[in-house]
Amino acid sequence: MDAALETIQQCGATADGATRRKLVTSLNQLIFSMESPSDTIHRYGHMSLQTASIRVGFDLGLFKLLAEAERPLSVDQVAQAKGTEPELIHRIMRYLTTVGALSEVSSSQFQANNVTRNLTDNVVVSGLGHYLNTVEPAYRALPAFLKRTGYKTPQDGIHTAFQDGWSTQLSSFQWFGENPKHLAYFNEYMASRRQPETSWLSVYPVAQEVKGWDAKDGKQALYVNVGGGIGHQCKQFREWYPNLPGRVILQDLPHSIEKSLSTPGVENMVHDFFQPQPIKDAKFYFLRGVLHDHPQCHARKILEETKAAMGPESVLLIDEMILPGHDVNTIAASIDMTMLTALAGMERTESQWGATLREAGLELVNTFMYNPLMAV
Ligand SMILES: C[S@@+](CC[C@H](N)C(=O)[O-])C[C@H]1O[C@@H](n2cnc3c(N)ncnc32)[C@H](O)[C@@H]1O
Repeated sequence: MDAALETIQQCGATADGATRRKLVTSLNQLIFSMESPSDTIHRYGHMSLQTASIRVGFDLGLFKLLAEAERPLSVDQVAQAKGTEPELIHRIMRYLTTVGALSEVSSSQFQANNVTRNLTDNVVVSGLGHYLNTVEPAYRALPAFLKRTGYKTPQDGIHTAFQDGWSTQLSSFQWFGENPKHLAYFNEYMASRRQPETSWLSVYPVAQEVKGWDAKDGKQALYVNVGGGIGHQCKQFREWYPNLPGRVILQDLPHSIEKSLSTPGVENMVHDFFQPQPIKDAKFYFLRGVLHDHPQCHARKILEETKAAMGPESVLLIDEMILPGHDVNTIAASIDMTMLTALAGMERTESQWGATLREAGLELVNTFMYNPLMAV
């Protein structure tokens, strides 16, 4: 058995991203296939305890403390640094070790591992800040919501499990406007959830597409990022193409524009994408992670408003997941269920994308893949 584990470990250490993901999926399936009834009780039954304990770890700054320590720390050292009772912190760390978040090197000595270090990474901190603080109450409300609504696909973004979970009548995005701490986690997570090198810019031939396009002395819009958050993709676009003429415009709701980056060469503009698009004839209209937030009728409205502004040379770029017809991985399936829970939104297969575009009088012309990891 040791030899088999070593082979798997070596395979994981040398695998590229897609192989690594396949390996993780296969190993999880293998674990499930060996699970006893007792394992199943404790795996599902204690899932909320895992997330609760991770929150405790964040609240205490435990992961940072261990990740920054040069050697393992004793329970007493951690207790002293964090002002906790040694016995209590020992129990917390012992539990966190069993769920992979820490390593126990000897009796009452703990050290950081790969997961501990992940838990100090900005994208993980903001991502978990978003899921654990903002989305979690909506997950808890989902079973009762689905029962009450007769197990029908939610079609209304202001009547979802999110509104039940937070006892609000606001849409999730309006609610963010009134909850700045939650908005900050969300914006930070949206900005950093994909590595800069995994960008649509690495596969889409922007320079070739704009050849011969007339920027009208820079007055014409080159790139309009609709629902673009606080402007990280606009910044990235300007960094990749500093010399392309034409306006680069970020559009979002007032509370996001208020927090947006000031990037030279980027205009920040308040615009509600359910209203007529004020920027006409842009070369590129770009929607990343926007349409999946919405049920079909709202996605259609956003597309129709964009289409109405497009000129003969405009291109609509949609940066979203394309779900495979089967074997959807757990991350993609989880995001799909999260969209359903919080926004009545959905992830789509290629044929669902084609249909969504056709409904708005548009045509899916081409697809480019820059992050195959989400597809395996
Ligand atoms: C999932 S986030 C994606 C943000 C960004 N495109 C990205 O990929 O990082 C969706 C964005 O749509 C914005 N949004 C929601 N409703 C909007 C509306 N009616 N008009 C304009 N933007 C809106 C949100 O504020 C948020 O920034």
